[in-house]
Amino acid sequence: MSEQEIKVPDLGGADEVEVIELLVSAGDSVEAEDPLLTIETDKASVELPSPGAGKITKLTVKVGDKVKEGDVVGMMEASDGSGGSDNSGDSDDSENEPEEKTEDAPKEESKGQAEAQDSKPAPKKKSGGSRKETVLVPPLDGMENVPVIEINVSEGDTIEADDALVTVESDKATMEIPSPYGGKVAKILVAEGDKLSEGDKLLELTVVEDGDDEDGGQDQAPTDSGEEAKPEPKTDEAAQQKEPAAQAQSSTYEPPAPGAKVHAGPAVRKLARELGADMTRIKGSGPKSRILKDDVQDYVKSQLQQSQQGGSVGTGSGIPGVKLPDFSQFGEVEREAMSRMMAVTATNMQRSWLNVPHVTQFEDADITDMEAFRKSQKAAGEKKGVKMTPLPFILKACATALAELPQFNVSLDMERKEVVRKQYIHIGIAVDTPNGLMVPVIRDVDQKGLWELAAESAELAQKARDKKLKPAEMQGACFTITSLGGIGGTAFTPIVNTPEVAILGVSKAAMKPVWDGAEFQPKLMLPLSLSYDHRAVNGADAARFTSLLSQLMGDIRTLLL
Ligand code: COA
Repeated sequence: MSEQEIKVPDLGGADEVEVIELLVSAGDSVEAEDPLLTIETDKASVELPSPGAGKITKLTVKVGDKVKEGDVVGMMEASDGSGGSDNSGDSDDSENEPEEKTEDAPKEESKGQAEAQDSKPAPKKKSGGSRKETVLVPPLDGMENVPVIEINVSEGDTIEADDALVTVESDKATMEIPSPYGGKVAKILVAEGDKLSEGDKLLELTVVEDGDDEDGGQDQAPTDSGEEAKPEPKTDEAAQQKEPAAQAQSSTYEPPAPGAKVHAGPAVRKLARELGADMTRIKGSGPKSRILKDDVQDYVKSQLQQSQQGGSVGTGSGIPGVKLPDFSQFGEVEREAMSRMMAVTATNMQRSWLNVPHVTQFEDADITDMEAFRKSQKAAGEKKGVKMTPLPFILKACATALAELPQFNVSLDMERKEVVRKQYIHIGIAVDTPNGLMVPVIRDVDQKGLWELAAESAELAQKARDKKLKPAEMQGACFTITSLGGIGGTAFTPIVNTPEVAILGVSKAAMKPVWDGAEFQPKLMLPLSLSYDHRAVNGADAARFTSLLSQLMGDIRTLLL
């Protein structure tokens, strides 16, 4: 039995490629075609197969090394006379062509892996009982002090042979350490963050020895009782390839549970790193929700699309998104999916906030007389079945101000560099509903009387709360009023409802002392906050607008003029 070199075969035109995984270690027995290591070009990951059956005596490369056709990657002692031959590109033996794990066939089970399963030594038949095994860290492809990033089992878990026990990650690769036996996890001897090297104790396993077991305990590799077992490490990617093809997935994305771990192989992690994709946000479509390359690519595509549509991740503004910490480190948290309305509102608010240079103008309107008049109409309102609140007066005043200062009744078409002037006065009213904010629109406010406006705003607000608004009833506004007067507050800075160019915020009216030139008078003052798009409206016009509103509401007879 002579020692032979293992060489890199023809790489199909690729020049230098990187070794990204070592799949065997010195001392391992392999069959012909067993995958020995994985190399990665910019197009595909390729497993380098063993040229024959035998024992690996040495690996001369490590993860991260660059190799090319003909390079020696290791030595082996051939056991069947066929192996150990030169499997470089000079060989005609097509069996020695590397098996490609291209993106077209990412889930294909490699022959080598299947054979590796089959070639496990037969289990020792026992008549029953159990034994305790201490599982040790196997050779880690030449790496030492590799941190544990995930513990995949808990004490008390019943596991199968080959189930991943822990995942370790160096700066080059992620590896799962599989269990050499099926059994029950008795004690975990490592913690996340611990640094592991070959021979360290991983966990204690209670292995049930059941000779009557139908499958003969085939998952249980034989060892003598009490012997410490070193499983063969496998990369997460390799584990992924062995699982059956992707299981059925729900189409909706469930955000990961707090502190949830990401399951993905090294090549996938590398791709995500290169694309700057946050793996905790990606839904894995592979077995056990493992993230596959396709998932990373689909995620990046969807983020780009959202970004182009002004979505929440980016707005084309170049402003980086907000990275969320793991909140569970500070205390208990729950996650729930946003309602569609909340998601749409969030998108619209962000779009407006980032696109519109906002300024807010504040003013107080003396509504002492208006309030006295409103109250005097209470009995009439009861007869009509309509409640007269301050809102119809504010609507009417805004309609008058929009007619007098038409620069507020526009939209900007920045693409065509045009100002769109509206010849109608439709006003939206923000309504607070249990499902979120809705903005029904009252048409032709300038042509309607106070009772009509009171009835229509009450009806639309009720429809909004009952989720009965039709899309047409929420479209076409020139301007918006958002009234928090029934709730409280002294002032606020509303966000313009683009493509409108201004919004009036109304806060709670309060009695204030107002100087009349001779003495202070108690007056009911209504705080107004006008936010406007400074591209369309200048500050002086905004001050004119709020002053006009104040005058109109201060003497409601002027609303008739
Ligand atoms: N100052 C003092 N009191 C006020 C007031 C003000 N500015 N505005 C309303 N009120 C009073 C009303 O007179 C009424 O009192 P009353 O029952 O004693 O007569 C009470 O507050 C409740 O009024 P409300 O039912 O809110 O009627 P409205 O016509 O003023 O408002 C809506 C209707 C739909 C605008 C309002 O119900 C609403 O949803 N507001 C919230 C809007 C919002 O969330 N905006 C935030 C956007 S970011």
